[in-house]
Amino acid sequence: MNGYNHTGPTIDEIEHMNSNHNHDSHEKEGENDNTVEYTDEIVLDPFCDPDHPVIVNFNDVSAAAYKMKGGIEKTPCNLSQMSKQFGMKLYFKKDFLQYTGSFKERGARYTLLQLTEDQATRGVVAASAGNHALALSYHGQLLQIPVTVVMPIVAPMMKVEACKQYGASVVIFGNDFGETKQYAMLLAKKKGLLYVNGYDHPHILAGQGTMGLEIIEQVPQVDACIIPVGGGGLIAGSAVALKNLKPSIKIIGVESERSTGFQAAMAAGKPVYTHVGQTLADGLAVPVVGVNALATAKPLIDRIVTVKESSIALAILRLIEQEKAVVEGAGAAGLAAIIQGLVPELKGKHVVVALCGGNIDTTALGRVIERGLAAEGRLIRFGVTVSDRPGGIAELTKKIADLGVSIKDILHERAWLQTDVFSVMVKCVVETRDLEHARQLEKEMRSHYENVEFWLDQ
Ligand SMILES: Cc1ncc(COP(=O)(O)O)c(C=O)c1O
Repeated sequence: MNGYNHTGPTIDEIEHMNSNHNHDSHEKEGENDNTVEYTDEIVLDPFCDPDHPVIVNFNDVSAAAYKMKGGIEKTPCNLSQMSKQFGMKLYFKKDFLQYTGSFKERGARYTLLQLTEDQATRGVVAASAGNHALALSYHGQLLQIPVTVVMPIVAPMMKVEACKQYGASVVIFGNDFGETKQYAMLLAKKKGLLYVNGYDHPHILAGQGTMGLEIIEQVPQVDACIIPVGGGGLIAGSAVALKNLKPSIKIIGVESERSTGFQAAMAAGKPVYTHVGQTLADGLAVPVVGVNALATAKPLIDRIVTVKESSIALAILRLIEQEKAVVEGAGAAGLAAIIQGLVPELKGKHVVVALCGGNIDTTALGRVIERGLAAEGRLIRFGVTVSDRPGGIAELTKKIADLGVSIKDILHERAWLQTDVFSVMVKCVVETRDLEHARQLEKEMRSHYENVEFWLDQ
């Protein structure tokens, strides 16, 4: 026993529910038809019952690790070059190196392995715009279990296609995750399939917990672990493993400033609806976090911090440049917390940061790199009014070049200037070495020109 209380059913009881659940309200006709009438009917997920939350325990996580052996990559967790820069022994747990690019495979595989024979024949259904869908589709194919994923209209094309490649039946439905989930639940009910909540099914939590077991094995001296939080499945499972094996460890969760549902749930004592905005960390954008995840994780989390979008962009950029790692926004949130200076108490400590996903859209990546450069003061824009006489702009570009600053874009405007007609406003986007270099440029411009506008993000 691990010392945690069960307020609801144990995982063994869940197994039993699993075997009863398949026969509920199953309709024979239209079994291969993935359409269902969309209604507001409240469909309860018996595995995520707010009145009877399941607290996952250490035995559950250990059982998951044992049963999954060989089916999931044991990803590296090595010391980072960035350690010196941040004054701590910094280790990255590289779960973005799983086959489909995220830790979600852990929970997905374990949940599929735990299905009854009947369920495994019928298959499962899930709602997800990304990593959970990919993970379930891929392991469904490996284990020959039919998988249906319902994805919102905004799901990236690349991910939709990948799920199809992994043999899943893909249904596109819903303007937001709420609608997508409702459709998936209705479909599960109609077809008698198991609905697999990607951050709250107890087996998902137990499976994600295997990341925590690996961390302790790979970095036994770990003092703190920083874990991104969406619905809460990853932090819940991992915290169970980590705190059981090393009670002194600090568990720090990270949310985006645009999705703070777990902090709201911790404060309210239950999941509450929280508005989520557009964020680079789309994997963390969950409006209502998991009931089991909350019940399991709440007593184990030491602190949750909130990161800015610009810090997430910067973290993605640093990981590419210094770690040679392509990590998505949600996966980079842990490093963002360090960059933003939110965990000063970890100086001098052994800190593991979960880099838990790498599925970033290629077009988004380009924009994120630019945001990251801007946030670091390496890509900046400024405007300066110069003389419109011959040589005025040439003189400006020479001053910029003399400082070793590279011009990316330049444009000049005459018509809207309020000053004399012999002046021109020149707007530049330039690349500098760092913020100090950018400030040097600003000083130089201000000392030569009267009218200078500088836009530095810092
Ligand atoms: C890359 C990545 N990191 C973190 C999370 C958050 O995990 P959870 O919802 O279990 O808290 C997700 C969820 O999709 C994710 O895709």
